[in-house]
Amino acid sequence: MSGSRRRFLQQVSAAGLAWGARRGLAAQMQMAMPAVGPVVASDEKPRVMLHSLELTPFVDALPIPERLMPMGERPLRVAMREIREKVHRDVPATRMWSYGGSAMGPLIEGRSGRAMRVEWVNSLPHKHFLPVDYSLHGCGRELPEVRAVAHLHGARVPTKDDGYPEDWYAPGHSRVCHYPLEQESATLWYHDHAMGLNRLNIYAGLVGMMLLRDEREDSLGLPSGKYEIPLVMYDRNFSVDGQLYYPTSGIAGHPWVPEFDGDAILINGKIRPFVEVEPRLYRLRVLNGANSRFFALAMEKGLAVWQIGSDQGLLSAPVKVRSLNLAPAERADLLVDFSGAAGQNVHLKNGGLEVLQFRVSSGAGTKACSLLPGKFHKMFTPVVRTEEAGATVTRRITLDEALNGRGDSMLMVLNRKRWMEPVTEKPKLNATEIWEFVNLTEDTHPIHLHLVRFQVLDRRTFDVFAYRNAKGLRYLAEAMKPEPNEMGWKDTVQCPPGMITRIITKFEGYTGKYLYHCHILEHESNDMMRPFEVVDEG
Ligand code: C2O
Ligand code: CU
Ligand code: CU
Repeated sequence: MSGSRRRFLQQVSAAGLAWGARRGLAAQMQMAMPAVGPVVASDEKPRVMLHSLELTPFVDALPIPERLMPMGERPLRVAMREIREKVHRDVPATRMWSYGGSAMGPLIEGRSGRAMRVEWVNSLPHKHFLPVDYSLHGCGRELPEVRAVAHLHGARVPTKDDGYPEDWYAPGHSRVCHYPLEQESATLWYHDHAMGLNRLNIYAGLVGMMLLRDEREDSLGLPSGKYEIPLVMYDRNFSVDGQLYYPTSGIAGHPWVPEFDGDAILINGKIRPFVEVEPRLYRLRVLNGANSRFFALAMEKGLAVWQIGSDQGLLSAPVKVRSLNLAPAERADLLVDFSGAAGQNVHLKNGGLEVLQFRVSSGAGTKACSLLPGKFHKMFTPVVRTEEAGATVTRRITLDEALNGRGDSMLMVLNRKRWMEPVTEKPKLNATEIWEFVNLTEDTHPIHLHLVRFQVLDRRTFDVFAYRNAKGLRYLAEAMKPEPNEMGWKDTVQCPPGMITRIITKFEGYTGKYLYHCHILEHESNDMMRPFEVVDEG
């Protein structure tokens, strides 16, 4: 269980709430996956698990992805393929899938208002190398075993280009997607979204970042070029021979597991890398690209970190952060000032573990141009908060879990409905709505909506037991406003257990079918994902 889930759980148990049997079941299922010793890996060969903490840390330089910018009219071409790349100096090369030729998909650079086309080519092999669960919906044996479709997370895109889970295509095929990019600067990312498979496809490596920029951002003169570093973080399990291991349930025919934390934390495709920096201000673009792990990040030695942006762009002003809690799919745009650490090594930590080493040069020859973020304050544009009074519809959506039909595993759902059931959420184009996520489970679920950006209104503890027993909604405390670094635009929101998390959003852009889901990929695929359809205003 991750730090944040634990933290929220503590709050909730303080409120004296009772929970279902799921933790017990999940724990049993975890026990079916040996943490050490011979295991049956995805390709059925017995292997021994790697313990990443036994590896020498900080021996690999942080890879910086290739920057890709559209030139002229031709679409960018990004090919998904199988590659072999080293995740650590002392680990044999790992088979993985990637967008492009290296573990880090290209960093695509876009400009607001300048449409871009990307041709996503599926050049993957025809067989999967991770444990496909054919019993998941949309994942049957009658389909091509390898399927992929790219989704540009955080982009406002017509439905046909959005990477709808059923729009997958097999190896040997490709698709050109049109991205209007009529939206403000933001840290976007792209990843696979094929129904039932994307938890495996993303784990295999189908992840990349897109930075969308605009004039407002340019005018701030933020650190750029080599002073702006993308950090794509995720966790993985490896066998000692360096191959990816994705845990399985031990239930014959149903390998799906509800969630897991991988042994190794990778940044830009390396286990605990280092990066050389100058004693000055840097901009770090951080993405939690993990399947289900939450990160609790902090910079060592009290080095000042300011968060200037969240998922969907800049905040009203820089917010000084001590630690940063990022759920899967959340992004943080950070400024870090290394000028006070000239000649030293400082570490980015996740919980107690140093995951990235910054080697700060002594500064000889470099002009320590430490633009203090304080200076930036007056230059930021306040994010206008959406008025609750402007909302025309309020929807209440429960986050539930239940035993599956077989009674041997869990199922996570939204509103007690599965993916294939008819659409129930049909917002009108340009309508402002409030969505209330009523979390009846004991996990924090990061809920993501396609198409829109939203604001977090508040979170409020309620009596889960009463709610479950049809005794209505009883609040147990006052509503909590989001922290200042959550007061900007978001597209993924942490919904803690025992709380109602409210967001407000305007359904701008396009009519058509989209989706919302938990971004814990294991939950999403079984079955915490639902369509919504934006309909004409008329
Ligand atoms: Cu990251 Cu459905 O998205
Ligand atoms: Cu998305
Ligand atoms: Cu979830």
